[in-house]
Amino acid sequence: MTATIIDGKAFAAEVRGRVGEHVARLKEENGITPGLAVVLVGEDPASEVYVRSKGRQTIESGMNSYEHKLPADTSEADLLALIDRLNADPAVNGILVQLPLPGHLNEDLVINAIDPAKDVDGFHISNVGLLATGQKAMVPCTPLGCLMLLREHHGSLSGLNAVVIGRSNIVGKPMAQLLLRDSCTVTVAHSRTRDIEAVVRGADIVVAAVGRAEMVTGDWIKPGATVIDVGINRLPPAEEGGKGRLVGDVEFESAAEVAGAITPVPGGVGPMTIACLLANTLTATCRAHG
Ligand code: GUN
Repeated sequence: MTATIIDGKAFAAEVRGRVGEHVARLKEENGITPGLAVVLVGEDPASEVYVRSKGRQTIESGMNSYEHKLPADTSEADLLALIDRLNADPAVNGILVQLPLPGHLNEDLVINAIDPAKDVDGFHISNVGLLATGQKAMVPCTPLGCLMLLREHHGSLSGLNAVVIGRSNIVGKPMAQLLLRDSCTVTVAHSRTRDIEAVVRGADIVVAAVGRAEMVTGDWIKPGATVIDVGINRLPPAEEGGKGRLVGDVEFESAAEVAGAITPVPGGVGPMTIACLLANTLTATCRAHG
């Protein structure tokens, strides 16, 4: 293996440390404690794990965590009423509605009901527009975490060819916007892209966010490129009752032979997402208090 391993776990701990120090200062000097409300509808096991982890790390950073667990058959009107209450609550600086929502709930309607100033996910249409036009926005946590890792590793990204694989609203599209803002030449590749291997082979920076286990292999990677793997996929278990191995969208072993730097799964992008959520909650708090 030749690639440098980009240690997202260590960098995320640093970011959380900096957020924690700032939160302590806010409390001491201004008597303000940031608050993050997380709303979970239903009992999706993966979402429950994420929400628990978010709550624990919010408290560890010195902020208040408000968890709202609602039954899977919650009506849209009841969910919207809760969001209205959280919007009006001065103790709540950030609101996150865990996705995906059960099928009977309109995700766009729900997300756009959140006060954009408290939209720490950066999914509200106003924040999407602000980011796209280069204005001050709340930026989605996963792409923000990827950008922080890239800047930490590269310094300036100006002029680099970046390929984002995947065009989701949560990762692919905002990632492309952030890389463009940092003066990369950006290509967004997806399931219909022709000769995707050749497109990826032209990239100095590859961000893989498709949700397909080990789709990107070493022969797709330009020698020396930086590879950011957003995927978290569980392979089928090797034995009955066992748990399958967690892998990314990139085949780590072969890619690490060619890349200059690569994020592992787990321990790469994943920990950065929650660190950025805490950072966004702190930012929302500071903006709310002028
Ligand atoms: N589900 C998967 N990723 C995310 C995320 O970043 N935010 C929310 N709200 N839900 C998610």
